[in-house]
Formats: sequence, C-alpha cells, structure tokens
Amino acid sequence: MFLLNTLSAALAISSSAVALSIPTVAEHSTNDATSKSSIYEKLSGPPAGWVRDDSTTINKDISTVKLRIQLMEQNMNKFHELAMNIATPGHALYGKHLSQHVIDAIVAPRDESSDLVMQWLETEGLGDHASISPRSDSVIVEASVSQIEKLLNAEYAPFVHSSTGEVLLRTLEYSLPDALQGHVKMVQPTTFFGLRAMRSTISKVRPIDKTNLVTEAGAVKGCSGGAVTPKCLANLYSFSSATALSAGKMGIAGFLEQWPSKSDLSTFMENYATEGNSGETYTCTLINGGTCPSSGSGYPGIEANLDTQYARAITESIPNVYYSTGGSPPIVGGGTNQNEPYLEFLDYLLALNDSDLPQTISISYGDDEETVPLDYADTTCNLFSQLGARGVSVLVASGDSGVGTTCSINGTKTFTTSFPASCPWVTTVGGTSGNSPEAAWTDGGGGFSSVFGRPSYQDSAVTSWLTNDNTHSGVSKYFNSSGRAYPDVAAQATDFTIVASGEAEGVDGTSCATPTFASIIQLLNSGRVAAGKPGLGFLNPWLYSNATSALTDITTGSNTGCSGVISNAGFEAVTGWDPATGLGTPNYTKLLAISDST
Ligand SMILES: *[C@@H]1O[C@H](CO)[C@@H](O)[C@H](O)[C@H]1NC(C)=O
Ligand SMILES: *[C@@H]1O[C@H](CO)[C@@H](O)[C@H](O)[C@H]1NC(C)=O
Ligand SMILES: *[C@@H]1O[C@H](CO)[C@@H](O)[C@H](O)[C@H]1NC(C)=O
Ligand SMILES: *[C@@H]1O[C@H](CO)[C@@H](O)[C@H](O)[C@H]1NC(C)=O
Ligand SMILES: *[C@@H]1O[C@H](CO)[C@@H](O)[C@H](O)[C@H]1NC(C)=O
Repeated sequence: MFLLNTLSAALAISSSAVALSIPTVAEHSTNDATSKSSIYEKLSGPPAGWVRDDSTTINKDISTVKLRIQLMEQNMNKFHELAMNIATPGHALYGKHLSQHVIDAIVAPRDESSDLVMQWLETEGLGDHASISPRSDSVIVEASVSQIEKLLNAEYAPFVHSSTGEVLLRTLEYSLPDALQGHVKMVQPTTFFGLRAMRSTISKVRPIDKTNLVTEAGAVKGCSGGAVTPKCLANLYSFSSATALSAGKMGIAGFLEQWPSKSDLSTFMENYATEGNSGETYTCTLINGGTCPSSGSGYPGIEANLDTQYARAITESIPNVYYSTGGSPPIVGGGTNQNEPYLEFLDYLLALNDSDLPQTISISYGDDEETVPLDYADTTCNLFSQLGARGVSVLVASGDSGVGTTCSINGTKTFTTSFPASCPWVTTVGGTSGNSPEAAWTDGGGGFSSVFGRPSYQDSAVTSWLTNDNTHSGVSKYFNSSGRAYPDVAAQATDFTIVASGEAEGVDGTSCATPTFASIIQLLNSGRVAAGKPGLGFLNPWLYSNATSALTDITTGSNTGCSGVISNAGFEAVTGWDPATGLGTPNYTKLLAISDST
C-alpha cells in the first residue's frame, strides 16, 4: 500500500486510476545464484560492417571492462499506461508529470534482484569491484577482461569497423546463471556494437563562401537564396514574431567527443540570427568524462555547431545547455572498455531534480535498428518514456539514408530502420527540402520498426495511410506494417548555413531538422513555464490529435533508398500522415494557439 499511497498523494488522484499491481516477491534460495549457467545472448556474427580483427593484440589481464548489469525493471507496462495518460490531452492526468522518485517507486527493480547479482559477484570473487548505480537500476562491475570473460563465460575479441577503422572489444555470446533469470535485463558492453558506430546524422558539408561571410549574409533574405538560415526558417515556420522568453531550458545532446565553438556561434549570430541576440550563448554540462573546451585543442564538431547555432538563434533568450557525453572508442591496448554513452546520458538526465531538467532535448544521433540488441533498445526506450513522464519533450532525428542502405537482413531484402527513431516514446523528425512547395527530402529517414509495435496514438493516422495510400503497394513486402511508424513530423533538412572555424558552410541532414523542430517546441514550452503551466512533455499523443491541424501537411516529393538492392524503394509524401514527412512541418503561430489552450 505504501506505493499506492505515495503515488496517489503525488498525483492527487484515486488509486484506482493508477491500478498498480504490487508484485509478489518470490522466495529464493541463495545458493541458486551460481549453480547453473545458460547462454543469455548469442549473435551468429558481428553486425554488418564489423569484422574480427586478430591483428590487434590485447592483454586481457591489463585491459579492463566496465560492465553494466541492468536489473529487470518492474511494472513497465503499467508505467507506460500511466505515462501515456499523462501525455494525452483530455485525460485527467494530462500534464501531471512525475518526479523520478515516484517513477522509481513503480519501476525500480526489486531489492532481491540486486541482492542476487551481488551474491553472484561475491561468489565469483568480484564483490569488491561492484557497486550499485545511483538510481539502483543496475550493478556496475569493473574488472580485467579475463575476469569478466570467466564471469560471463564469454570470449572478448577486437572487432574493426571496415569504413571507420574503429576498433572495439566485444563478445558474440555470454552466459548468466539460471538463478538470475527474470532479475537481469541486459549486460553491456558485450554484444552491442551499434553506438560505437553511432554517426551524427549530418550527410553533407560544403563550403559556401570562404572569404566573405558578410556578403553571404546580406544576400540571404528569407529562403530565396537557396540557403536555409534562421531568418528563412522564421518566415517558413511563422515564428518571426515569437516573444523573447527566458524561462525554461533547451537541451542539446552531444556525443562522439564533439563540442561547439563559442566564437563560431557568435559569428553565426551576428550574421544570421533574427534579432541579433548575439550575447546569448550556451552552457556546457559534462557527462561521463565529456569535454567542452572553450577554445583550442582541435576542430569543433560540425554537428555540435549546427545544433547550438540553430537552437540558439531560434530559442532567442532561453537558456541552452549542451550536454557533452564522453565515451570514446575503447582503448584496446590497456584502457577501460566502457559502456557506450547513450545510457550514461539518459541516466544522468533522470537523476536531475525537476528544476534542473530541460523541457526539450534535441538528439541528432542514431544507428540502424538491426545493430541494436533487443534488450538494449528496450532499456533505452523505457528510459525515454521516463523522461517524457518527467515532462521532457524528446526529439530525435529520423536518419539520412531514406529507407536504408544495406536493406538486407540474413539475405532477406527489407527496408532498414533507425534507432532511437523507432522508439515509440520519442518524437522523430524527418526531412523536407525547398519551399515552393516544401517537399519530402529524398534522403530523409522513414519507415516501420521491426522491434516496437505501433503505439495507439498513431493507430488512426497510420491505419488510414495503410488503407488509403495506393503509392506503396509495390514495396509493402519490405516493411513491417504493424511496427511503430516514423517520422512523426518533419522540418527543413538541406542547405543549412552554419559557421565552422569562422567560415560559412552548407550542411544537409535530419540533424538540421531536429534542432529546428525541437527549438520551436521549446518556444512553446518556455511560454508554458512562464505562464506557470507544465511543459508539453512527451509530445506524440498531442501531435497526433489536438496539434495535427497546426502542422503543415507535406504532400509532394518522396524519400528513396536501398539503391542497387530494392528498386523503386521509398515512400511518397501524400495527404495526411506518411512515412516520408510524418504529420508535416511546424507552424509556430498555430501551435502556440493550441498549446495555449491545452
Ligand atoms: C484536445 O483533445 C481532447 C480529446 O479530443 C479534447 O478533450 C480537448 O478539449 C482538446 N483540447 C484542445 C485545447 O483542443
Ligand atoms: C535541485 O538541484 C539544485 C542544483 O543541484 C539544488 O540547488 C536544489 O536544491 C535541488 N532541489 C531539490 C528539490 O533537490
Ligand atoms: C539471422 O540468422 C541467424 C542464424 O540463422 C539467426 O540466429 C538470427 O536470429 C537471424 N537474424 C534475424 C534478424 O532474423
Ligand atoms: C512485425 O512487428 C511486430 C510488432 O512490432 C512484431 O511483433 C513482429 O515480430 C514483426 N515481424 C517481423 C517479421 O519482423
Ligand atoms: C501559419 O499560421 C498562420 C495563422 O493561421 C497563418 O497566417 C500563416 O500563413 C501560416 N504560415 C504558413 C507558412 O503556412
């Protein structure tokens, strides 16, 4: 009953509205913990692009692995129901965001789970190397590669990525004691290669004018110059008259040892911002050993510059935070083989107290869904659902390969999908290009998850497309129509002018669309915070209902992909939702009117 009392007090609702079932705690004999092991996960080979690299030698007694043993969460389906209600306009719980301690009271693993894992580690002589994570959802154990191999009955080997040359240490299978079944959700780094190859979703960078920024800026008025600038977006998406606000906080995710440049931002703001608010910058928050040098030491990241420049220009005086999450490729020769950074980033955010959370986060990083182990995708997506219930709107890029590049799994032709774009608990932003009319961008990511089922908020929109659209019949065997469909929305994705190392450059990618859409959402969120209202939180149920009419439906162009593998691959932009441009592009004026009355 304690759980229900805490919840109903926090939500000021009747306990029946939450309908939590309290799990019964199973009795467990403690010496079960190590008696018998079984293979927990096994890959038939490394993901496409990775090959075993026996030319790299590792000293398994010196190199270490920092292992995250994620414990099985409880009541996740119940929590998801609650999180969906909180995000659904018209529901009694709409906007009643939860504090993390309330969420943890629902979903946190049972004490028994961490007890059993700790007992196992002690039996294996690794008790001193283990600790429980701050939110008690995982056990972290750092030990030599040899010790971890013995623990998991695994064989770690170096693998090299054929195009990037990155080397990492992974195992193709691992085992766990049978007694831990139902207590452990996943163990990493083991079989997950994906986020090491995580790429920023920028696809093209080209010099615009190396010598004369001011002339370039002067020539760009609105969108007519062929180059997209904040001024152009302000006209296209009707936010030029947005009131300057300073409430709330806009968050930008940064990975891959990228950081933005303040001097580039200032050059950009002087030349391209709508109101010349060049005094505003951003603050850096460092996570997991991330870096954010203010000058010197190398070249600032194009992705980081793009994100901070457009977020800064669009959100005017709203504080911006660049979250620089460290986690470089592991040093095979003797360093620590760490967890990849996505979970570290989400864990960090969830541990923040309510007043420190941003209301919106823009994430322009992703990878092919098929390279992400199911338990990893599920864990990450569950953490996104918690961020939404905390009141954070999370926007993720849909990818820059249209419907895919490899387009084949185990010899079966199929469109390639992207994660976390495919997670039903994020808002996925696809790409458009041009403005007369604004059309689907050929390389904008779109499709149907083969991991996550279709969420209820998009049931009607997607069913309507599946039933009424006659442009996809030739390709319907290449996607799973019952999966979560994306993108949800779209924005401009080509010819964005940015400043990098003092020079103007043009870039393409859903990395352009994502901070653009996210910043417009933050304008709405800041307006709500200033008015004493909760932020919009997880957006999708709102976008697919009340807010649909505030989006401009894109009905021309198509995305493409799978070149040389599947002919005529792609989806056309049509009336209503479609897997090229989702529900469409933002009209701030209209969104504001709906946000104000929601
Ligand atoms: C949003 O939609 C819900 C459900 O249809 C409705 O109850 C509510 O009044 C709508 N709110 C606004 C502001 O339109
Ligand atoms: C939230 O965090 C800030 C900064 O860390 C701290 O000053 C404040 O006291 C915290 N508030 C609560 C309620 O813990
Ligand atoms: C690919 O084939 C292997 C071996 O037959 C199988 O274990 C694996 O599950 C298949 N993968 C997919 C995504 O179907
Ligand atoms: C299609 O998607 C559904 C829902 O996510 C899933 O249960 C099913 O396994 C998928 N089928 C294939 C062939 O991938
Ligand atoms: C956005 O909405 C406003 C208000 O309805 C309208 O006047 C304007 O033309 C719209 N902008 C675009 C670009 O469609």
